[in-house]
Amino acid sequence: MSLSIAEAILEATRALQSAGISEPRRQASSLLANVLKVDQTFLITRAETKLTPRELDSFRQGVGRRARGEPLQYIKGFQEFFGLDFEVNQNALIPRPETELLVETALGLVADASASPFICEIGAGTGCISISLLHKRPRARAVAVDISPSAARLASRNAARNEIGKGMSIMVADCFAAFHVRPVFDLIVSNPPYIADRDWEGLQREVREYEPRLALTSGSDGLAMIRRLILEAPAFLLKGGHLLLEIGYDQGVAVEQMIDPRVWKLVAIHNDLRGIPRTVVLRKQ
Ligand SMILES: C[S@@+](CC[C@H](N)C(=O)[O-])C[C@H]1O[C@@H](n2cnc3c(N)ncnc32)[C@H](O)[C@@H]1O
Repeated sequence: MSLSIAEAILEATRALQSAGISEPRRQASSLLANVLKVDQTFLITRAETKLTPRELDSFRQGVGRRARGEPLQYIKGFQEFFGLDFEVNQNALIPRPETELLVETALGLVADASASPFICEIGAGTGCISISLLHKRPRARAVAVDISPSAARLASRNAARNEIGKGMSIMVADCFAAFHVRPVFDLIVSNPPYIADRDWEGLQREVREYEPRLALTSGSDGLAMIRRLILEAPAFLLKGGHLLLEIGYDQGVAVEQMIDPRVWKLVAIHNDLRGIPRTVVLRKQ
């Protein structure tokens, strides 16, 4: 039986609600808008329009995936970040709003639009950080590194999708391990994995069952990669260059204790919109 837009949304809302999904109506509308490639206004103003059998089938499949816990972004296949569109899939973390703070802070450090800063990102994932930086600072150059080949391929597609040209190169490597001839960057940025192994089981089902563990956990205290970046980054930074790190909600004090004042000056730890210490800014002495 064919359903109208309004009827299909109602059916999906009920299914998502009984599966315990929050904001079921909003999520149902978002999935349908994605299937029909229309905006929310279309869904409201054309609520009586009948769906074709193919549209209804595709919508019901998406609703079924969401009801089983798959994040909306993986079903839709994209996520907006810093005003740009990014392809997403289970090989990389879904870009989070708090990471926009890292990008804003980085833009403040490379504010001279006429300069050509050399930037390194460790742990590129979708490439959302480097791509947003290069979109705003087209004269900059960036090397984006990820240990996951499939994440690196995704970052590469996202660079093309957002028309980032030769300014960005993407490498598969374990942190700085591939830099044999030592490059010297103006800025190193990273949103590293920072969840403690022991906290894995307590994560939301959406995260634990669908997002890559490699992107999330980092040793028994969650600080293994942050510790490594603070130790290894100075060799790849200009004097006065900056290291910018996103950290977990309770890691501010531990990170401050890692800082050797002979090597780094702690410039700031910025809070995110919820008031949580989130972005660490270090300057090489
Ligand atoms: C928290 S995700 C960040 C992804 C993206 N930059 C973002 O902000 O949405 C961390 C990324 O680091 C990568 N990663 C983990 N260990 C790594 C390592 N030793 N060297 C390089 N990349 C690593 C993961 O594959 C993952 O893509």
